[in-house]
This record gives sequence, structure tokens and C-alpha cells, in this order.
Amino acid sequence: MLRKVEIIGTGSAIPKLRVANDDLSKIMDTSDEWISTRTGIRARHLAVEETTTGMAVEAAKHAMEKAKVVPEEIDLIIAATVSPDRFFPNLSCEIQREIGAKHAVAFDINAACSGFLFALNLASTYLKSGVYQTALILGAETLSKMMDWTDRSTCVLFGDGAGAAIVRASESEEAGGILSMVQGSDGAAGMVLNCSNRPANNPYVKNDTALSYTYMNGQEVYKFAVRTVPRAVTQVVEQAGLSMEEIDYFLLHQANYRIIEAAAKRLKQPMEKFPTNLQECGNISAASVPILLDNVNSAGTIKKGDKIVLAGFGAGLTWGAAVLVW
Ligand code: COA
Repeated sequence: MLRKVEIIGTGSAIPKLRVANDDLSKIMDTSDEWISTRTGIRARHLAVEETTTGMAVEAAKHAMEKAKVVPEEIDLIIAATVSPDRFFPNLSCEIQREIGAKHAVAFDINAACSGFLFALNLASTYLKSGVYQTALILGAETLSKMMDWTDRSTCVLFGDGAGAAIVRASESEEAGGILSMVQGSDGAAGMVLNCSNRPANNPYVKNDTALSYTYMNGQEVYKFAVRTVPRAVTQVVEQAGLSMEEIDYFLLHQANYRIIEAAAKRLKQPMEKFPTNLQECGNISAASVPILLDNVNSAGTIKKGDKIVLAGFGAGLTWGAAVLVW
């Protein structure tokens, strides 16, 4: 019997504080006009009381509730993040502790904005092989703490939040499931979007380096995205044995509306098939795709049997895409 892997529940959480473009223009030299015409972003939610772990736990609980899964059933937790609250223990172990998933194996991955797709691929491989039955995968970020708030060219683009999905192996005829996945990395081009770790500070180093924040060469990242996303989506849809017209929805990483429009144009698909939430959330790196997935799932936009493409791209450079039947 063919073992399928399907998403059976989704959840998300974003911080309470909503910061509109006009709010930012009061504290830095920017404007709603500049941000919204270049990116489509109108607001983002920023963590004040919230933490990466806290938002991830909230998203996980919503996903478990929707999937009707209890914590003891979860065998595997993979959280994708570039902004955990701690270096260790890892975010996944913190989530395990908070939700009481005492039988799970828990570890994090870092593939930046492609992180959720990488987590889905990894979980799917474990589940397909029969090693595990039920996984909790997440993307969770507090990117606001990694921004240089004096650099208007980056800080206006990003937001905070978490998204989660319960993924389960099934042999049922009625089950949907993942049809195909592609992934890629290009480390050689990676420095166009980077954030350095703490500098060495042992007694043998003279170090007065300040902490580093996110650096981005926006135009290079833009070119990478509009080249890579349509290519990865074309590949993954072909691998699924489908035509582009058969795909009901394309859920792309929410970095920039113009990138999504460019991808839609290259794929010759109408924008109605590309739901977005970047207007309200900005770019939340690994959390972007699972939050959008939860938004369209909760709104009833996607229905059983729909064919959906998920795609992420970002720092590394990395990219990933999947086709699934809902
Ligand atoms: N408000 C007002 N002006 C700003 C600004 C802001 N927030 N940020 C930058 N500017 C200014 C720059 O200083 C520059 O001014 P100058 O011409 O006087 O030097 C001008 O706007 C144009 O900057 P530029 O970098 O050429 O803009 P752009 O048209 O390339 O758009 C991005 C910038 C970041 C919106 C665009 O490059 C982009 O979206 N890139 C992809 C980023 C992305 O998706 N990253 C995440 C990937 S996971």
C-alpha cells in the first residue's frame, strides 16, 4: 500500500502590536508610499511581550487542535528558524516541553525563508520511510530583534510570527498528500543576505566588534527570487505530473508583492491563484508560508482535493517547493 504524507492541521500566531507603514514614518525617514509601492507591505506585527517559542507553541496548539492530535502522538518536531530565543536548548525542544510531546524527537533547522519547505521535506522523508507516523513542523521567527532599526532599507520589510502544521503518514485511499518536492541551495551567492553570529570573545582575542544585524543587497535578492521561484515551481509541478493550469493555489513566500506578480506572470497564472498576507505581516522568513497556509485553511479558501503549490526562497541562498493535494 502506498504510504502518503499529508498535512492534517495548521495553526499560526502573530504578535499583538501592529505597526503600519505610517507608524514607521514617524520614527525613520520612510513613507507608506515608498514601502507599499515597492513591496506591497502595509503593516507588520512586532513582538513586544511575545517570544519565538511562545508564538511557536501557540501555533502548534492550534494545529494540534485542528488535526485532533494529542501531544503524545507526535513523534517528531522540526522547527525552522533563524531567530530562536536561545542557541540551546533548540526551539523544537522548548516546544516539546511546553506542549508535553514527551515521545517526540525534536530538532531545529535553519534554511531561512525556505525553512518550512525544508522541514516539510525532511518530515515527509521520515514519515514515508515509516520511521515516524506523526510530525509537528513549524516556522517561527522574531526577526525584529535581528534588524538594524537605523537601516530603513531592511527593517521595514520584516515582521514576527509563527506557523505550524501537523503532518501525518496515511495509507487511506481518501488521503491527500505530497506529490512532489524540490529543494536547492547556492551557498556561493549567500552573502547577499546575511546576519553574522556573535564575534569570538575568548581571552585571546581583542574584540570590539559590535553585534551584527541583517544585511541585504535587495536588488540581487530580487533577481534571485524572480529567477528561482518560477523555475522551482515549474520543476515541482512537472514532477507531480500536473500542468500549471491544474494547480488551484500557489502559496509563495511572502517577501514582496512584485516578486509574486513576476512569478505569476512567468508561470502564466492569474494573481487570484496567489493568496497573500504580506500586506499585513511583512516578510516573516520561515514562518511566512505556514502562516499563509493556516490563513487560507482557516478561511476555507482551500478545499479537500485542491492542488496546492508551496514555495519558499531566501538566505543561504536556499529554495524549496512542494505540490500537495489538500
Ligand atoms: N524608505 C524610503 N526610501 C528608502 C527606503 C525606505 N524604507 N529604503 C531604501 N530607500 C531609498 C534608498 O536609500 C535609495 O535611495 P537613493 O536612490 O537616494 O540612494 C532608494 O530608496 C532606492 O533604493 P533601491 O535599493 O534601489 O530600491 P529598490 O527599488 O531596489 O527596492 C527593495 C528595494 C528592498 C524593496 C527591493 O530591492 C526588493 O524587494 N528586493 C528583494 C528583497 C527581498 O525580498 N528580501 C527577502 C528575501 S527572502
